[in-house]
Amino acid sequence: MNKLKIFKIILMSNPGEKKPNDDRKKQLPIVTELNEEELNNLIKLINGIRDSADKENSIAELSKMKDHFPNLALYLWHANGIIAILLQDLISIYQMLSPPNTLSSSAANVVCNILSLIQCLAAHKDTRSLLLSAHIPLFLFPFLNTLNKNSNYDTIRLTSLGVIGSLVKADSSEVINYLLQTEIIPLCLRIMERGSDLCQLISTFIIQKILTDQGGLNYICQKPERFYVINTVLEKLLKKQASSSPPQKRLLKNIIRCYLKLSENTRANSALKENIPSELNDPRIVSALDENSKKCLSNLFLNLNQVNINTS
Ligand code: TRP
Repeated sequence: MNKLKIFKIILMSNPGEKKPNDDRKKQLPIVTELNEEELNNLIKLINGIRDSADKENSIAELSKMKDHFPNLALYLWHANGIIAILLQDLISIYQMLSPPNTLSSSAANVVCNILSLIQCLAAHKDTRSLLLSAHIPLFLFPFLNTLNKNSNYDTIRLTSLGVIGSLVKADSSEVINYLLQTEIIPLCLRIMERGSDLCQLISTFIIQKILTDQGGLNYICQKPERFYVINTVLEKLLKKQASSSPPQKRLLKNIIRCYLKLSENTRANSALKENIPSELNDPRIVSALDENSKKCLSNLFLNLNQVNINTS
């Protein structure tokens, strides 16, 4: 799975939304129904998952289909035994996650294709809750928990983050409440500190979405330690961006939104007033921001009753 593609799916646009100059133009249009031939093909592919000789190819073909046909989620979920097979295949990879690092690129590819089918379930409004009730996100945590820098591991971390990204993108309190009962926050924080650029971006996006939910913000600000850990990681990311040229606009946007959300909580607001990072007033950072992020930054300083150099 192409890394840039995962990034685009999660962060850039809603499924189905078309943008000029977007390479989506080249892709098939989004459809809600299939014609008879396509439907037969879909059923053949789903049945192929049950056959070990066809499985890998069927999963790969289905994962290509999900952007064109989001209702694939319904077919996958309601087909007898398919989800169980996919989960079993994910579990069989766990043994390759610990040293000696034996995850081959073909195994990583299989995992990514399965994860992209799970992402399809996460993105669909009618399968999202079912996915949570079945605790399927937990099956991804061993992948998120890896530290290996090898690109096979990085790709499965990124694709796993993509699934969680699709869940939080729904702006649903049910999703956030679910995630708060898991260890997703510490996992994301560690990836924000040590992960590759794209992994950092998506994990910061996930934290931002958690903070955007009232329950998520309350949870994080309920204990000083939780707030401080998040604040520390955000500050480290920001300092790194201030010294890298050019800074990554999208990451900065997510960081600033995180701060803005934190500043809306009374206790976090007082804590931020004491130690808001000076980088937020650094021209190298400010000049890299888009209009929307500049507004967020102004609102942040307004919430903190502080001046900022950003006059727009
Ligand atoms: N269960 C942990 C807690 O309640 C989750 C957690 C670990 C956490 N590190 C965090 C939550 C940092 C928020 C911020 O604290």
